[in-house]
Amino acid sequence: MNQLVARSLMRGLINGAKCNRSILCSVTRVELRDEKAAFGRMMSTETALAEKNQKEKSVEEVEKQSKVVFSSYWGIQRPKITREDGSPWPWNCFMPWETYHADTAIDLSKHHVPKTFADKVAYRTVKLLRIPTDIFFQRRYGCRAMMLETVAAVPGMVGGMLLHLRSLRKFEHSGGWVKALLEEAENERMHLMTMVELVRPKWYERLLVLTVQGVFFNAFFVLYVLSPKAAHRVVGYLEEEAIHSYTEFLKDIDSGAIENVPAPAIAIDYWRLPKDATLKDVITVIRADEAHHRDVNHFASDIHFQGKKLNEAPAPIGYH
Ligand SMILES: [Fe+2]
Ligand SMILES: [Fe+2]
Repeated sequence: MNQLVARSLMRGLINGAKCNRSILCSVTRVELRDEKAAFGRMMSTETALAEKNQKEKSVEEVEKQSKVVFSSYWGIQRPKITREDGSPWPWNCFMPWETYHADTAIDLSKHHVPKTFADKVAYRTVKLLRIPTDIFFQRRYGCRAMMLETVAAVPGMVGGMLLHLRSLRKFEHSGGWVKALLEEAENERMHLMTMVELVRPKWYERLLVLTVQGVFFNAFFVLYVLSPKAAHRVVGYLEEEAIHSYTEFLKDIDSGAIENVPAPAIAIDYWRLPKDATLKDVITVIRADEAHHRDVNHFASDIHFQGKKLNEAPAPIGYH
């Protein structure tokens, strides 16, 4: 319970200063209004660094508390983990060996030209889905990214799960593809965990996420069972759209429409960014991740198109 309260307080500290939406803490409900309508939920430049330090400090305090609370009959203890500079590792949700430097040199303009009927259906479906998204979010790219990452993290988990079950059923190796797809899901979830440090969802957006997840998970599950080739192609095109959205996001940062605030602490550690990294750096590495997902999924669809199984081709494990 103490841990929950402490975590809630941490989130309140980090997100409270410049949010224009109500943030429900376990202890108190804070109503704050931001003067900047365009992207008012960002942390302010001058307070963010102090908040980041506060957060790291708070995480350590929580860890100390949890050691007391969970000192263990079961023998499960967190080993002492540090950053390269010797400071304590503040995250439980990922470890230093899971972090990486994003390959931002990846070609962002690659596109799979739809050739087959299934490709054309996949491409048109994704383009159609973009219309309501554009209408709903317009140029609110922070909010848009946060909401879309809740969807983007689903296909890797569904595909990974189904390949896992197939491996069990068929008594055969997955060729590393289970791991590769689960890595993609985890990477997308880290995008969401980063965005949520910057943008707090309103109650109706949470409701929308719930609905969309219910529909999308089941629809994608059925599609993957019927045609993994089409499912991976759809994801490939979704990733192409994600690259486009993050490019527009970067344009708004460059034009000043979105404030280039300091990067959240979680992003600095996950992508091994410099301590003075900004939102622009974060969006740049997320966009590079999306380009990698695009390649993995079009590659997977191409393997199926050639009449082969995924485990016959090299799995892109650790492909970031
Ligand atoms: Fe993503
Ligand atoms: Fe992605």
